[in-house]
Amino acid sequence: MATPDQMDRVVNLCKRRGLVFPSSEIYGGFRSTWDYGPLGVELKRNVKDAWWRSMVQLRDDIVGLDAAILMAPKVWEASGHLATFTDPLVDCRSCKERFRADHLPGSGACPNCGAKDSFTEARHFNLMFKTFVGPVEDDAAVAYLRPETAQGIFVNFANIQTTSRKKPPFGVAQIGKSFRNEITPGNFIFRTREFEQMEMEYFVPPGDADHWYEHWCQERLRWHLDLGIPESKLRLRPHDPEELSHYSTATSDVEYEFPWGWGELEGIANRTDFDLKQHAESSGQELTYFDQENDRRYVPYVIEPALGADRATLAFLLAAYEEEDVANGKGGTEKRTVLHLDPRLAPIKAAVLPLSRNERLTPIAEEIAGALRPHFMIDVDSSGSIGRRYRRQDEVGTPYCVTVDFDTLDDHAVTVRDRDSMTQERIPVDGLVTYLREQLPW
Ligand code: GAP
Repeated sequence: MATPDQMDRVVNLCKRRGLVFPSSEIYGGFRSTWDYGPLGVELKRNVKDAWWRSMVQLRDDIVGLDAAILMAPKVWEASGHLATFTDPLVDCRSCKERFRADHLPGSGACPNCGAKDSFTEARHFNLMFKTFVGPVEDDAAVAYLRPETAQGIFVNFANIQTTSRKKPPFGVAQIGKSFRNEITPGNFIFRTREFEQMEMEYFVPPGDADHWYEHWCQERLRWHLDLGIPESKLRLRPHDPEELSHYSTATSDVEYEFPWGWGELEGIANRTDFDLKQHAESSGQELTYFDQENDRRYVPYVIEPALGADRATLAFLLAAYEEEDVANGKGGTEKRTVLHLDPRLAPIKAAVLPLSRNERLTPIAEEIAGALRPHFMIDVDSSGSIGRRYRRQDEVGTPYCVTVDFDTLDDHAVTVRDRDSMTQERIPVDGLVTYLREQLPW
């Protein structure tokens, strides 16, 4: 079971090994913002690629979109975000700290200073970031940073449907940044004000909405399991009616058991025809589908699985993290930290390790690295003992280490070590790409 202590260890590992850094760190950091370092950017890209592959590449009923972050302000009026995308905010009169009213403990005590019944009345605080487009900062120039990527899909419904000639049921997938002025960001990359979403809007005939809602709940659960989240750490939780967003008649969260308890990883919502109808009314454009076979025109219902790329990355990191005792080769044991990441998500797929910096080994190691590079993200590490180098790769989840030793000079083979089992196999250099291709799913 993950503990808060484990969270600290993962955050430390992320900092120490270049996965995630506090943003603007040389200025003391900036309010729960984070930067993905050289290994983190690979990990998050792999998470997004895994999502895109399963949603778009492997299906013929879903197409992609990359819409602008800045959209006409009318979009947010029509979508209901200007009026209702708010959190109830209270201040503690004693310590002046701010909280979300719906996140306060039942005891009525301030979580910061412990003062009893010290909160102000709840005020509704809109989560959208406001900015100005152009040089004049007046009401006519106001624009918002999108708080969800979904609206870019809804306003492009007719463009996409007519150009792709898809018929319901069909979907549109999008990955991109969203922004929310969260009152209480925190827990590392779990809740931030700037984050990436992976959202898919699946347009269906209204009568089929319940079926597709169930389908996507199961399909999305399966995706997380397939990429290595253990079943015991995942659950599907249907929302109570009072929890539902203003646009939804049914929502379920895929929840992960984070070190602080169960938390939302992904939401799957039945958004009905709410968004298309609102935009049709507000823009005066027709956003319907004409079903020729049945000679009827309708506004499709929408089933939406929406996952945060950062939150998913955190869950994969936590689920993969392990500290274990292993034999140290001297009759005792030592600790090894290992990320058992699914190889598809691992930032580096293989590390080439020349046994020493000997002048006869270096050129062969470089040649092997050069042969692997077009196929996989690889690393070359020649500093420190081989044992230390294995540990360095283990803790960032590299599935395979390829050791080049003096025998390589004669037998033209290398030792390939498996991260999880730590077993080693001798593989001919000529067959190395094929061997790794077979081990690494894609
Ligand atoms: N379009 C629907 C929608 O945006 P949501 O439940 O508000 O629904 C979907 O967000 C997912 O986006 C969440 O399940 C979570 O993974 C991610 N997410 C939402 N707010 C976030 C935040 N402040 N920081 C990081 N991820 C966030």
